[in-house]
Amino acid sequence: MDLDSRAREVMQDNDLGNYTVPTKGLYPYQWNWDSAFCALGFNTYSEDRAWLEIETLFASQWQSGFVPHIIFHKQDPNYFPGPDVWQSNTSPECTGITQPPVSASMILALWKSGDKRANKARLQAIFPKLVACHRWFYRTRDPLNKGLVLTVHPWETGRDNSPEWDAAARRIDTSEVGTYQRKDITHVNKDMRPLDEEYDRYITLLKFGRATQWDHDRIAKESPFKVIDVCMTMILSRADHDLMLLAEELGEAAIVEELKTRIALTRNNINYLWDDQLKAFCSKDLISGLPSGHITSASFLAFYADVGSQEQREYLLAHLDRIASKVKYLIPSLDPESDRFDSMRYWRGPVWSVVNYLAALGLKECGQSVWAQRILDDTRALVKESGFYEAFCPLTGAGTGGDHFTWTAAIWLYWLDI
Ligand code: DGY
Repeated sequence: MDLDSRAREVMQDNDLGNYTVPTKGLYPYQWNWDSAFCALGFNTYSEDRAWLEIETLFASQWQSGFVPHIIFHKQDPNYFPGPDVWQSNTSPECTGITQPPVSASMILALWKSGDKRANKARLQAIFPKLVACHRWFYRTRDPLNKGLVLTVHPWETGRDNSPEWDAAARRIDTSEVGTYQRKDITHVNKDMRPLDEEYDRYITLLKFGRATQWDHDRIAKESPFKVIDVCMTMILSRADHDLMLLAEELGEAAIVEELKTRIALTRNNINYLWDDQLKAFCSKDLISGLPSGHITSASFLAFYADVGSQEQREYLLAHLDRIASKVKYLIPSLDPESDRFDSMRYWRGPVWSVVNYLAALGLKECGQSVWAQRILDDTRALVKESGFYEAFCPLTGAGTGGDHFTWTAAIWLYWLDI
């Protein structure tokens, strides 16, 4: 079977009608940013199904504008921590944390390539929900008023065990975590997953949020883990830009102005995330005020967000060049020269097709077509060699994490199969 048909098969196997799961077993529910990316894949053969994916996600949006990171449409005993642990008191049940807000950007992609007349009503219906989601971030997750996104849980970032969180997470007191059974390591090799001590922190933070009954204002103020995430910041700012284009389409002049102001706010304050020793953008611990000190694939999303000076972009390109000389496939999720680099362990080394897509898009738009093409070629080669894994070893190309993964299949159909 050719890769195109196999990619569709992966998407269909993980399709539960009005939403998809990232992969059965390991991730058996609807995940926020996974769904948004997977809409791109559906869009190559069914516009209707593509829109439905994101519409289902936003059907679980809270009054406040918050969009959960997992929607537990139906119980699955193979996942921990499930709805009984999160206790959201919503229907369907969901988690009390969010994920990188890529949805507006994905809706723009669907809108641009689709049948405008047929999709207009759908755009009009989802647009206010996207606006509410972005406003939630500025109201609840921008404590510095600088257009820089605060995260209160590593799972929110999508980059669960990135070394960017190591120092900030060490502060979390896990002595009351209690006993629990991890399920992820029954599906995937333990060496590819976060460590037990990291899980203790994830569960401790979950319990902290749950004890507030998911009061997001309180959590943002009192959480023992408060980091300004470079990845979520770049993604939100780009999503503001894409939402602004949608607002223009709909003639929403006041919202266009609101988004322009926000984009400028982030652009003017992005130096907060510039580590001048590292010469790169990275996340910053809000409690200690210290930068993470790690170059990750998210550092290169500065191009996607169109932020940073010419000089800063040159430093980033020099890092990319250096990193490219150390690995076979770009972009590793951590600088391979870091002493914490682990080529097969989740976000401490492997390459993720979705991050590559965003980074390459940004590089291309900023005139760096050669780098964009190199990233595209590497991503394509990884899928051709190893199939639709969750992520890939940047040194050998071997698949890592879950197999039969929806967003990798989606990225193949949308971006690589050309
Ligand atoms: C997990 O369960 O590993 C997820 O990454 C949480 O989002």
